[in-house]
Amino acid sequence: METSLHWHRTSIIKDLSFFLLVLESLLLFLSLPNCCFAQLKRDYYRDSCPNVESIVRNAVEKKLQETFVTAPATLRLFFHDCFIQGCDASVILASPSGDAEKDAPDDLSLAGDGFDTVIRAKAAVDSVPGCKNNVSCADILALATRDVIVLSGGPNYDVELGRRDGRQSTKASVDHHLPLANFSYKNLEDMFASHGLSQVDLIALSGAHTIGFSHCSQFSKRIYDFSNKSSIDPTLDQEYARQLQQACPRNVDPRIAVPMDPTTPLKFDNEFYKNLLQGKALLASDQALLATRKSRRVVTAFASNSSLFEQVFVASITRLGRVGVKTGNQGEIRRDCRMVN
Ligand code: HEM
Ligand SMILES: *[C@@H]1O[C@H](CO)[C@@H](O)[C@H](O)[C@H]1NC(C)=O
Ligand SMILES: *[C@@H]1O[C@H](CO)[C@@H](O)[C@H](O)[C@H]1NC(C)=O
Ligand SMILES: *[C@@H]1O[C@H](CO)[C@@H](O)[C@H](O)[C@H]1NC(C)=O
Repeated sequence: METSLHWHRTSIIKDLSFFLLVLESLLLFLSLPNCCFAQLKRDYYRDSCPNVESIVRNAVEKKLQETFVTAPATLRLFFHDCFIQGCDASVILASPSGDAEKDAPDDLSLAGDGFDTVIRAKAAVDSVPGCKNNVSCADILALATRDVIVLSGGPNYDVELGRRDGRQSTKASVDHHLPLANFSYKNLEDMFASHGLSQVDLIALSGAHTIGFSHCSQFSKRIYDFSNKSSIDPTLDQEYARQLQQACPRNVDPRIAVPMDPTTPLKFDNEFYKNLLQGKALLASDQALLATRKSRRVVTAFASNSSLFEQVFVASITRLGRVGVKTGNQGEIRRDCRMVN
C-alpha cells in the first residue's frame, strides 16, 4: 500500500512537471508572434502571389513521385539553412569558387534532391505571371519542407512567410555551427540554445530522423570501435547492431547509406522515439537524447503519444523557421535561387 501510494505520488509530480514543460513550450510558441517575430506572417503573399501554397505543393508532389529522397533531403536542407546565417536560402547559393556553404564538410552530404525541389518549385511559382520574382527562395524552402512532411504522413501546419534571401554564403560560416553525430546532450543543448531553441525543441526536431538515411561513417564507431572495453556501443540493441554491421561492413563503399528509422523509414511518425527507447537509434547524438531525466521523459512522452509529438514538432519547426530571418528591406528576393541578383 505504502509503496504503491508513493509510486503514485511521484508519478503525478512527474506528469505535472512534464505537462508544465510542454505547456511552456506551447505558450512560448503562441506568444512569440506578438512579441518578436511580427515580421513573418501566414498570409504574406496574399496580394503578391495568392496561390503560392498550391503551386509549391504541386511541384513538391511531382518531385516526390520521382524519388522519396526528396522528403528527407528537403527537410534536412531547411535545418542546415536555418542554422547558418538564418533561414535565408544561403545554403542553396551555387559555388563558383568552391567556397560556399554547400562546400563545407558538414553540408557535402546534403542530397541534391533537396536543392532540386526548391529550384523546381521556384520555376513553378515564376511561371505564374503575377507571382514571378515575388516569392523568396527561403519561403519556398519553408513551404516545401512543410509539404514533404505532410506528404510523408506527418502533421499539417501553417507556414509563416516573409523571409528574404541572403546574399552571402561562405564555407567558413558553417564550421562548428552544425551539430555532429558524435555530439553529447550538452553539446546539442548548447547549440540549439544559441539559436533560441529549447531542449524540447531539440528533442522534437530530432524526430525528423524518422525519415531519411545516414552514411555508414556517421555511426561506424558505434558498431566497430566503441571503446577499449567493447567494440559495440552497449546502448545499442545487439541484434540491431549486427544488422548494421551487415549493412555497413568495415571499409564499406562510402556512398552506402542506411535508413535512420529501421521500422518505418518512409513515414513521418513517432517511431524514432520508440526505436530510441529500444536501443535502435542510429546516431550517437540521437542516443544522447536519453541523457537526462528530463530529456528521457520527453522522449517517452513522444514515443507513447503521437499527437503530442506532432503538436510539439509543429511548434518547434515553426520556431526553427524564425531563426535569424531577414525581413523587410534586408536581403532580397532572388530571381534564381542559385545566384544572388
Ligand atoms: C540534433 C542534432 C542533429 C544531428 C547531430 C544530426 C545529424 C545528422 C546526420 C549525421 C545525418 C546523416 C547524414 C548523412 O550521412 O548523409 C542526418 C540526416 C538527416 N537529418 Fe539530422 N541531425 C540533427 C538534427 C536534425 C534536425 C533538427 C533535422 C530537421 C528538422 C534533421 C533532419 C535530418 C534528415 C531529414 C536527415 C536525412 C537526410 C537524407 O536522407 O538525405 N536533423 N542528420
Ligand atoms: C508582385 O506583387 C505585387 C503586389 O505586391 C503585384 O503588384 C505584382 O504584379 C506582382 N508581380 C510582379 C512581377 O511584381
Ligand atoms: C566527432 O566527429 C568529427 C568528424 O565528424 C571529428 O572530427 C571529431 O574528432 C569527433 N569528436 C569526437 C569527440 O570524437
Ligand atoms: C496525447 O497528447 C494530446 C495532445 O497534446 C493530448 O490532448 C492527449 O490527452 C494525450 N493523450 C494521452 C493518452 O495522454
